[in-house]
Amino acid sequence: MEPVIGNVYEAAGGAETFRRLVERFYARVADDALLRPIYPDADLSGATERLTLFLIQYWGGPSTYNELRGHPRLRLRHQPFAIGQAERDAWFRHMTAAALRKALIDYFETASTAMINRQAQR
Ligand code: HEM
Repeated sequence: MEPVIGNVYEAAGGAETFRRLVERFYARVADDALLRPIYPDADLSGATERLTLFLIQYWGGPSTYNELRGHPRLRLRHQPFAIGQAERDAWFRHMTAAALRKALIDYFETASTAMINRQAQR
């Protein structure tokens, strides 16, 4: 039987979901005194675009990232940046916060709709 939902990318709501997730993530990075200096560009829009396309591809969406950037080779690409435990923890904390919020809101939206048990009363 065909699965109802093709992959995580589709289940999560497609490109728009990943765009919003990464935008929220980088808004947090922009305010982080430990992480922000690691990013070389004055503006984070390029980094936002690259991470968005990477995640879209990773979770089963279009492989635009590979077309533009080639194989991700993420460990190699991160080699120039000094990443220790503290930097990793900050990165992970921001991503978790950004992703968790989205998941919670999606849940409450679906759950509240599911509780509707009467027609609108006037
Ligand atoms: C652990 C802490 C991490 C730090 C401090 C960090 C930092 C950075 C920095 C400074 C860049 C260059 C910004 C730019 O693209 O202009 C970058 C690029 C990138 N990072 Fe990270 N990163 C971390 C973890 C991760 C993880 C876990 C992933 C994937 C799940 C990831 C995915 C990417 C991608 C896809 C790019 C763009 C690569 C390219 O095409 O050039 N990063 N990161």
